[in-house]
Amino acid sequence: MELRILVHAPRGRDAAVVQTVLSGQGITTHACQSQDQLIRCMSDGAAGAILTEEALPELLADDRLLRWLGAQPPWSDFPFVVLATKREGRRAAKDVQTLHSLGNMILLERPLNAETLVSAAESAVRERRRQYVTRQHLDEISQTRNQLERLNAELEQRIAQRTRELASANDRLMKEIAERERAQAALTQVQKMEAIGRLTGGIAHDFNNLLHVVNMNLELVSMYAKEEKVKPVVERAKSAAKRGSKLTSQLLSFARSQSLLPRLVHVNKLLLGMRDLLEISAGAGVEVKLDLCDEPNPVVVDPSQLEMAVLNLAVNSRDAMPEGGTLTISTCNRVRHEADGELKPGDYLVVTVSDTGAGIPQQLLSKVFDPFFTTKAVGSGTGLGLSQVYGFARQSGGLAFVRSEMGKGTSVEMHFPLAPADAEEVREKGPSELQRASGNARRILVVEDDADVRRVIVECLGLIGYSVREAPNGTEGLAALRESTPDLLMVDYAMPDMTGAEVISKAREIVGNIPVILATGYADMAHVERLAGKPNILRKPFDITTLGDAVAGALAKAESATAATNP
Ligand SMILES: Nc1ncnc2c1ncn2[C@@H]1O[C@H](COP(=O)(O)OP(=O)(O)OP(=O)(O)O)[C@@H](O)[C@H]1O
Ligand SMILES: [Mg+2]
Repeated sequence: MELRILVHAPRGRDAAVVQTVLSGQGITTHACQSQDQLIRCMSDGAAGAILTEEALPELLADDRLLRWLGAQPPWSDFPFVVLATKREGRRAAKDVQTLHSLGNMILLERPLNAETLVSAAESAVRERRRQYVTRQHLDEISQTRNQLERLNAELEQRIAQRTRELASANDRLMKEIAERERAQAALTQVQKMEAIGRLTGGIAHDFNNLLHVVNMNLELVSMYAKEEKVKPVVERAKSAAKRGSKLTSQLLSFARSQSLLPRLVHVNKLLLGMRDLLEISAGAGVEVKLDLCDEPNPVVVDPSQLEMAVLNLAVNSRDAMPEGGTLTISTCNRVRHEADGELKPGDYLVVTVSDTGAGIPQQLLSKVFDPFFTTKAVGSGTGLGLSQVYGFARQSGGLAFVRSEMGKGTSVEMHFPLAPADAEEVREKGPSELQRASGNARRILVVEDDADVRRVIVECLGLIGYSVREAPNGTEGLAALRESTPDLLMVDYAMPDMTGAEVISKAREIVGNIPVILATGYADMAHVERLAGKPNILRKPFDITTLGDAVAGALAKAESATAATNP
C-alpha cells in the first residue's frame, strides 16, 4: 500500500487515463474522488499523488491538506505530480503560490506524454522509497536511543542500589569497629588492673611483713623497757608503722589480696554510725547528706574496709570542693536481670558517694582507679584511695564505677551483692586487755617462712605464756605435727613450698580437727575457703593483744565444741 500512487482528477477521463498508463508500467494506483478520501488514503500510506491543477482550489479550500502536510514526520516529504491546466501566457502569482504550497511537487504540462507521466510517477516512488529508508533509520536510531535511555536508567538504579548497600555495609562495619574498640579498651583496662594488682600485691605483702616485724618488736621493746622515757619514743615509731600499714592495706585491697574479714553488715546502720566522722572529714564548708533507702540492705563485706572505702571517697570529694559544696552518700537496692561486664545478675546494694566538686576530666576517668594515680601535689596524695575502693568492691563480689562531669561533680558507685536471707550475724567483740595464758601451758605450732616474723610471733606467744614450737615451711611444719600434736596450729598464708591453706588441709588429714589460725595480710580468700573452709583469720600486722585474743578465742571455741560433742 505504501508504494501506490493516488490519483485525484475528479473531472473528465484524466483519472482513468493516468491509471491505465501507470498500471501498464506495473505501478499500483488508487483513484480518490474527494479531498476526504485523498487525505485518508495519504494517511493510510502512499508513495505520492497525481493531481490535476483544476482540482487544487477545491482541495485547498480549507487548510486540512496543508495541515496534514505540515504535520508530516521529519523523514516524510510527500511527493505530488500536478497535471497543469492548459493556459495562454504565465500563471498568476496566486496560482504559483498555490502550487508551491504543496511543497514537494512536479508540474507536468498537458497534453500529457505517457513516458513523462510514467517517469514522473516512478521518480515519486523512488523518492518515497528513500524517505521510507530514512524512516527506518530514524526508527532504529530512536529505538537505540530508547534502549540506551532504559539501560542508563537501569544502570543508575543499580548504582544507587549498590551505593545504598555499600553505605549500609560501611555503617555496619563502623559500628562493629567501634564496638570492638570499646570491648578491647574494657579488656585492656581489666588486664591492666589485674597486672598492676599482681605487682602491687607482691610488693605490699613483703612490705606488710616488714611492718609487722617492726610493729611487734616495738611492742616487745615497750614491754621490756625499764626506762619510762622509752615509751613515748616507741609510741611515735608505732604510729608511723601504723600509717605505713594503712598504705599497705590499701595496696592489698587494690590487689584484691586483702585477707578480708567479711561479716553480715547492715550498711545503712554502718553509714549512720559514721556520720560524725564523715562531717569532720568533709570539713566546715561541705554539707553532708545521707540519703538512705528504706529497704533493709544487708551485705557480707569486711566492715572496716567498707568504712575505709567510704572515707576515702569522702576525702576525695572534700578535696574536689575547696570552696564548699554538698557531699551525698546514698544507698539503694537494685536488681540486675542481665550480666553486665563483671557483674552477675542478682540483687545488689549500691552505695553512691557524690559531690558537687570540680569533676574529673574525661581523659583521666580510666586512670583514677590505678594505684598511685594522683593529681594532687607531691606529698598530699598517694593515689591509693580509689584503688582501695575498686579492689575492695571487686574482692567483695561487686564492682566500682566512677561518673563525672567537669564543673558539676563526681559520683562513685560501689555495687555489692545483697546477702542471702540465711546469712549469719557475727557479734563484734570490744577491745580487751592482754590475755595471759592460764593454767598448764598450751602448745602452739607456728609455721611461718619469714624468719623475723616467726621469731617475733614465737617470742610474743612465749611472753603470753604458751609453749611454742616453730617451723620455717609447710613440710617441716607437718613433720613437727606428726611428732606431737599441738593444741593450736598457727600458719602464714604465702609460703614458698605450700600455702597456709594447703598446710591446714593436710594437717587436718593427719591430726583431725585441731584449732587453726591463719595469720596473713595477703591471701587469695577463695583458695583458702576451698581448701581450709573458714579458718580463724588474723590480719597482719597485728599487735600482741590481738594475737592473745585470737589464740585464746580459737582455743575456747575448740574446747566448747569438744564439750558439746562429748558431754
Ligand atoms: N571526687 C573527686 N572529684 C574530683 N577528682 C577526683 C575525685 N576523686 C578522685 N579524683 C581524682 O582521682 C585521683 C585519684 O584519687 P585517689 O583517691 O585514688 O588518690 P588521691 O586522692 O590523689 O590520693 P590518696 O591516696 O591520698 O587518696 C585524684 O588525685 C583526683 O585527681
Ligand atoms: Mg583519695
